[in-house]
Amino acid sequence: MEKYTPVKEDIKGILGRPGYDDDSIAPLLVRLAWHSSGTYDGMSKTGGSNGATMRFHPESNDGANAGLDKARDFLQPIKEKHPWITYADLWTLGGCVAIESMGGPQIPWIPGRTDRDSNIKTTDDIPPNGRLPDASKGQDHVRQIFYRMGFNDREIVALLGAHTIGRCHVERSGYTGPWTYTPTRFTNQYFKLLTTVDWQPKKWDGPLQYVDPDDELMMLPSDMAVLWDPEFSKVAHEYAKDKDLFFKDFAAAFGKMIDLGVPRNAHVSKL
Ligand code: HEM
Repeated sequence: MEKYTPVKEDIKGILGRPGYDDDSIAPLLVRLAWHSSGTYDGMSKTGGSNGATMRFHPESNDGANAGLDKARDFLQPIKEKHPWITYADLWTLGGCVAIESMGGPQIPWIPGRTDRDSNIKTTDDIPPNGRLPDASKGQDHVRQIFYRMGFNDREIVALLGAHTIGRCHVERSGYTGPWTYTPTRFTNQYFKLLTTVDWQPKKWDGPLQYVDPDDELMMLPSDMAVLWDPEFSKVAHEYAKDKDLFFKDFAAAFGKMIDLGVPRNAHVSKL
């Protein structure tokens, strides 16, 4: 695994970016790792991080992936410096390095993803649009999307805790604002705020989203589902009280997510 150390160091080196969002591209890299993996369908065993198919149409044009072209561009010089690493490994490693660099847990990351050949013209092995979650929807939709990947309720809540970092951009998703006051620190603030703030619908012309009384922070309708669904809510309250528990569960769930659909032989999986 030592050969990945220089790549990790180079990823760390590009995370700080004065003038971009909160002077960091780390949250954006986490979103790239998640969206490249979150297309997995356990029934057909298609989609997932293997192949780095987001480079190609129609996945590259999925509205849900708006803005992720920037994340891919930010990583491109690292790919050029270390051409032996696949895009699929680089994108998932980028998310893991970003999480750790923001003070989050170490994510189990195993290399071995391959890139889909850009010469193949068929779109058969590129996941169709619409596999990623819709933020305007509630718990039934959230469950449907994550059960399809093979996650249970507890893992879903842990994964959604990633909204403790980053922010929404009107020009990308239609939504606006950060979930926490510390969008570049990986903590359990998302759960603390979700379970204590008096969230109200934002008064604006945009899509329904929720804001705190000062209109500084936000929650998506799909985030509110975590508060309003009794099963999800139980877990959210546990994570609000216990950061270590959240970190442990998040690391396991995120590690599982970036590995979905990655073909591994017995030797590699022991690394
Ligand atoms: C129900 C599931 C989810 C929905 C509906 C959802 C929706 C969204 C939306 C609408 C944005 C704003 C995009 C933008 O305007 O730039 C966003 C950002 C983000 N999401 Fe999610 N998300 C979900 C799950 C997840 C998961 C599982 C992760 C990671 C484990 C994640 C990580 C992030 C991060 C880090 C950002 C911030 C990106 C940035 O700052 O540029 N999300 N999400």
